[in-house]
Amino acid sequence: MCGIIGYIGKKTNIQKTLIDSLKTLEYRGYDSAGLAYVTDKVNIIKSKGKISHLEEKIDKEQEGMLGIAHTRWATHGEANDINSHPHKVGSVTIVHNGIIENYMELKKLLEKEGYEFKSETDTEVACAVLDYLKNKKLWNNLEIIKEFSTYVKGSFALGIIFDDELDTLYATRCDSPLILGLGKDETLIASDIAAVIKFTKEYILLDNNDIVKLTQDKIEIYNKKLEPICKEKQTVNWNIEQAEKGGYEHFMLKEIHEEEDVLHNTINEYVDTMETFLQKMPDFAKYKKIHIVACGSAMHAGLIGKYLFENYSDIETTVEIASEYRYKKVFYNHNDTLVVLISQSGETADTIACLRKAKENGIDTLAIVNVVSSTIAREADKVLYIRAGVEIAVATTKAYLLQVAMLMLVNLKMMAEKSKIDDVELKEILKAFKASPKVVKQILDQEDKYLEIAKMIHKDEDIFFIGRGIDYAISMEGSLKLKEISYIHSEAYQAGELKHGTISLIEDHTKVISVMTDEDLYLKTISNIKEVKARGADVILLTTPSLDSDYEFADRKIVLPEANKYLVPMLSIIPLQLIAYQVAKLRGCDIDKPRNLAKSVTVE
Ligand code: AGP
Repeated sequence: MCGIIGYIGKKTNIQKTLIDSLKTLEYRGYDSAGLAYVTDKVNIIKSKGKISHLEEKIDKEQEGMLGIAHTRWATHGEANDINSHPHKVGSVTIVHNGIIENYMELKKLLEKEGYEFKSETDTEVACAVLDYLKNKKLWNNLEIIKEFSTYVKGSFALGIIFDDELDTLYATRCDSPLILGLGKDETLIASDIAAVIKFTKEYILLDNNDIVKLTQDKIEIYNKKLEPICKEKQTVNWNIEQAEKGGYEHFMLKEIHEEEDVLHNTINEYVDTMETFLQKMPDFAKYKKIHIVACGSAMHAGLIGKYLFENYSDIETTVEIASEYRYKKVFYNHNDTLVVLISQSGETADTIACLRKAKENGIDTLAIVNVVSSTIAREADKVLYIRAGVEIAVATTKAYLLQVAMLMLVNLKMMAEKSKIDDVELKEILKAFKASPKVVKQILDQEDKYLEIAKMIHKDEDIFFIGRGIDYAISMEGSLKLKEISYIHSEAYQAGELKHGTISLIEDHTKVISVMTDEDLYLKTISNIKEVKARGADVILLTTPSLDSDYEFADRKIVLPEANKYLVPMLSIIPLQLIAYQVAKLRGCDIDKPRNLAKSVTVE
């Protein structure tokens, strides 16, 4: 859950180069940071807190041509200078992203060998393993790294500098993401493409146990048998602007406003004609059961998938929280079960574990992923990429919207396979999909409306979202968005469930956001809204033109623009994303990096 970067290349002001690149990885973790750069020795600077704190300690003019850096999300040991990276033990200096699961065993072994440890981290132990192997004087540095992976269990992406090779940068990975950025006269290692865009658009994806040896003018890549290997060069079609804020105050607002474009890109990729759509979508005919497995907002998108698959395609669908699913007893029926994994980053550890569990049980897997060539994308049997581009704000917005759009497309394919929709209807909905970016624009343009509502609710400490059926699924994501960036305690409930207890929390001016777009259930939802209204609640209603009316119970109303009803579940989240953003802004919260969170949860 950390971000690592390494640079080797022409002479540059190395500390500044490392810091600038590290900043693009800060969304991966930001409780402490550090760097190491080479002069006639390895020099280390570390600091608790955000990268800006480390930046105060560096010498921007310092010349150098090799260095590694790290931004942390603590897993072992609190956020402080000692536990932050890089760690140096003996003649080895490393930065690490991941978790060494057997570090306590290794620590005991190394303590018997006379090692003493300054920090509480698994990483310092990993560094000591490398030094321990080094002192065995049996292997060269490449062989030591190969040997290292036989000692450690867990996940790691490492940048390594050996004192006896101060002109060489080594790197390796296992289960934690690591790429190579191929610049002109400079090469980088990084946890994420965003960190190398400033230097190059060319990159190489490293596979598990690949080992990289980088010198000024040479890139050597070896597989776990230390056989030299060539890797395919990839080109990133993202630009620096995408990595920067594009003039918006926050990445979250920029990414919400990118929803029109990214929806356009994704729909265009999958929905050119009805024929291309039916070809591009995998076949689902043989599946009778679907397990949707994910975490957080991706799981919430799954809740909408479940509603669509069951109500439109009559396929029994369960939505599973990955951290539970990975350990629960699952009764698979091999021939007719599909496990659908949803993940923006493609690196969420719990979701990866569920993917491997399904595969170990011989179950077909389909991944709906944003980050190209991420672990989940590479290991799933089939992948449907959403084209959200780089999503930097911790709170997902555009990726969530596209996950819902993709589940809607999957459902349309299922309906077509089961003749639950004829070509005319299918063409009509696909046409509506193609026009949907314009509807998104209309919704984005109502910003003042959302600010007005944000002003109404931003001082509250407890807020409720209610909805029935698919509106409950939308409420779940609306509530998480508000909660995770504004720190308001907000909960989403099935509207009919409130009267079985929680309604006792409703009092004068309690804010209740009611999502009411489901044409089959809206009358039921109205009676539930009246129940909270009768107990003094202030009601904010989100609804559609066809269900709209001058409801006296609605203190504020958001009416979505006219749109094909099949698209409503996708469109409904946008006002809730913008209200959450405006509330967090009014409360002065760190919107792009909410406390205690990180963009990609790569540990269990
Ligand atoms: C959402 O805003 C959060 N960042 C979080 O719930 C996220 O959706 C979850 O961690 C899953 O991440 P993934 O989609 O990258 O797997």
